[in-house]
Amino acid sequence: MAAAPTSVVVLDRGNNTTCTINLHGATVVSWRVNNQEQLFVSKQAVFDGKKAIRGGIPFVFPQFGSWNYGPQHGFARVIRWHVEKSPERLPSGDIEAMFCIVDNEVTRSMWNFPFRLSYRLILREKELHFNIGVYNVGKEATFSFNLLLHTYFKVPDVRRCQITGLQGCTFVDKTRDGAMYQEVRDVVTVNEYTDRVYQNTPQEHIITNVVSNRKMRIQKYNFPDTVVWNPWVEKAREIQDFGDDEYPNMICVEAGHVSAPVILLPGTAFEASEILQVM
Ligand code: BG6
Repeated sequence: MAAAPTSVVVLDRGNNTTCTINLHGATVVSWRVNNQEQLFVSKQAVFDGKKAIRGGIPFVFPQFGSWNYGPQHGFARVIRWHVEKSPERLPSGDIEAMFCIVDNEVTRSMWNFPFRLSYRLILREKELHFNIGVYNVGKEATFSFNLLLHTYFKVPDVRRCQITGLQGCTFVDKTRDGAMYQEVRDVVTVNEYTDRVYQNTPQEHIITNVVSNRKMRIQKYNFPDTVVWNPWVEKAREIQDFGDDEYPNMICVEAGHVSAPVILLPGTAFEASEILQVM
């Protein structure tokens, strides 16, 4: 009997510093730094190879939000990715791995374009690097898409987290009327149901009071937007694969290109990257 295909890939840097990627959606389901988990995954998360994994870092592409042609947040988080390069130690001691998907019958049934998506991860001592390449491999059609790393950080109490870098930015408040507002606070805190798409945000954010009361630095390139999401009490109850009491222990701060689509001409590529760093 053929062996079942591996569904997770582990990058192991030593010193209990690891990163685990589930090939379902190339979802990063764990990032441990000196044995300390940095990402939140719900206890109710479903690993059936169909549903998007509730937590870690789901990969949102080619649509952010609801979509007439396929599932919410696109198909990349619910299809199986390929390992392009198994984890390998670089001369620096860091560990690199690469994953990819190309268009197939399933993707073309929702989004009829020839494309290639590559996802490179590098695990450093206290950092996780992501490099994404989107290639329009077609000869004729231009396509447009959204891209976002839906990052669930693990936190002891979301009410104590502060997010820097959002002051002055305009945002769409998806919990209200979807109208535009401007952020006046120098640091953003989350004390209620929050679902905001901040636009033209700076390259760097810092989140305070993540695990072990440390800080998390987010650096992003070619990701003009930052989404801040926490479902809070009532919404948490509505989400089946999310525990009712889990909302205080997570905060989503998501780097994305979602307010305006990326428009990609045939034969061209788009690249974006992010670095997460435990401080
Ligand atoms: C956020 C969106 O990025 O993801 C929210 O801004 C959404 O509107 C949330 O509710 C979770 O989405 P999903 O599809 O994983 O339940």
